[in-house]
Amino acid sequence: MASSVHERMKETAALGTEIPETGWAYQDGVFKRLADAHVSLATHALNYGTGVFEGIRAYWNATQEQLYVFRLREHFERMRDNCKLLRIELPGDSAALSEVTLELLRKNEFRTDVYIRPLAYKAARSIKVALHDLRSGFGMFAFPIGAYLPTSGLAARTATWRRTADDAIPARGKLTGAYINTALAVDEAHDANADESIFLTRDGHVSEGGSANLFMVRGGELITPSVTDDILEGITRDTVIAIAREELGLTVTERAIDRTELFIADEVFFCGTGAQVAPCVKVDGREVGDGAIGPVARRIGDVYFAIARGDDKRHAAWRTAVQR
Ligand SMILES: Cc1ncc(COP(=O)(O)O)c(C=O)c1O
Repeated sequence: MASSVHERMKETAALGTEIPETGWAYQDGVFKRLADAHVSLATHALNYGTGVFEGIRAYWNATQEQLYVFRLREHFERMRDNCKLLRIELPGDSAALSEVTLELLRKNEFRTDVYIRPLAYKAARSIKVALHDLRSGFGMFAFPIGAYLPTSGLAARTATWRRTADDAIPARGKLTGAYINTALAVDEAHDANADESIFLTRDGHVSEGGSANLFMVRGGELITPSVTDDILEGITRDTVIAIAREELGLTVTERAIDRTELFIADEVFFCGTGAQVAPCVKVDGREVGDGAIGPVARRIGDVYFAIARGDDKRHAAWRTAVQR
């Protein structure tokens, strides 16, 4: 059975506190304290949401005394692609930005799991609502993090807010302003005592969670919405598909999912950098399967954490060691 909302909230309690400003950040070519990294009130991105961001995790392996960044290069490659949508210029290629990330993590001397937030944005002090001829800025900060969503079996609620369509505000963009859509939906889910929301597309199919991609298991097959269902093209989604196919020998299908398929699915789970692998045991008040974490989600979660933390040596290319 699902634990109580109160018990599940303990897993993510730290999210309710503000990020400390004592650590090192990076802004436009300079390492500085987060407390000293500022933008003007007139910044275009602050006024209009014209920013592109990433969320990257690094896992601390206490036995190896090593911090491993998970799929670092892939995050900056997606960021490069997404910056095209807003005509934002990045200050370097994926390799250069990965180096900045490693330097930032070394300066902070983290010995714990960490979340890294790169942010590229329209830095110009301008009220012109357009995308061209506006100066770009780039910043990055990092901070210790635990779970973003409970991993002990969460409850989800279908949002009354529809996912922004690709021809309105592209969900694949990881655009700062687009996350108002998520905030509205997650707020609604919390009001209904659920942990995460499930977005439907304009045509009524399942898209994704508020801040994570969604998978379901039916008849032993792993199924997830396709990249044209107004989802963020998740790097953890790609990781889960690879683990399911290569490590578990499962069939993975990308196709449209009806909302009611979630009610009769054997398993539902979310995945994402923040969410990691987060099994969902309740959808819209109905128990998923028998209301407990299913074997597929459990196995994929176990393999994901072991690989990401460097306890499992497979997929070495997915990990970048911070200490040389
Ligand atoms: C809306 C949304 N979908 C999916 C994901 C998962 O993407 P990724 O696995 O690349 O972190 C995220 C971020 O974590 C997200 O914000």
